[in-house]
Amino acid sequence: MSSNRQPIVSGNWKMNNNHFEAIQSVQKLAYLLQKDDFDAVEVTVHPPFTDLRSMQTLIDADQLRLKLGAQNCHSEDKGAFTGEVSPLFLSKLGVQYVIVGHSERRELFGETDEFVAAKVAAVLKHGMIPILCVGETLAERESGSTLDKVKRQVRIALDKRSNEHVKSMVIAYEPIWAIGTGKNASPADAQDVIAAIREEVASVASGPAAQAIRLQYGGSVKAGTIAEIMRQPDIDGVLVGGASLDPTEFARIVQYRRHAF
Ligand code: PGA
Repeated sequence: MSSNRQPIVSGNWKMNNNHFEAIQSVQKLAYLLQKDDFDAVEVTVHPPFTDLRSMQTLIDADQLRLKLGAQNCHSEDKGAFTGEVSPLFLSKLGVQYVIVGHSERRELFGETDEFVAAKVAAVLKHGMIPILCVGETLAERESGSTLDKVKRQVRIALDKRSNEHVKSMVIAYEPIWAIGTGKNASPADAQDVIAAIREEVASVASGPAAQAIRLQYGGSVKAGTIAEIMRQPDIDGVLVGGASLDPTEFARIVQYRRHAF
């Protein structure tokens, strides 16, 4: 990346690590990361909901510079939504980032673009930052509709959001065929799609919002592949699933600048 946008590396643990395991993992990560790492790169960790309170306590007690994230939330503050989690409750737990519209939520739990847009609005309303996920299936890629799909997802999610809110956001481009498969988009391919996302943000919001918003790549990111990804001009960070479960590997990803050349 080549701007003054701060790089952001996010670990999405998905449905892994109970709260005991979460504490161990975060303690190990905190030990591996140095002050310089946190000065250069923003690091967010997204555990399951049941771990959030334990992690908040640990982050506060040890004054860790890791940012606490969630993997999802509902769009409403409260009400008859059995089993759902309110964004208001997340903000009370010190959560700063919320992944919204992950492809697993869209595909396995039927989340529509409109529902995702309502969640983006709700997360922003409570002073947290959405990490909006967009991406195409293999069939969509092969039929040449990648850009149409991701631009539409971006447009619907950002519609009616203020410029200030859009500036603060993060969008993760995650080709669905690359998630958890060991396959990844080539850095040049990811750059092309992410540059198109930035253009779409300029047209839905504004040029300054497009310059400020941070755009991540996600999909089988590993310590061995991060440096080349981060060299792309429009890529400001990564959303990491599998490789974030191992604190040593995740720390090496955060420390990509040390082994970049
Ligand atoms: P992966 O997951 O790194 O295991 O491919 C990425 C994600 O789903 O956020």
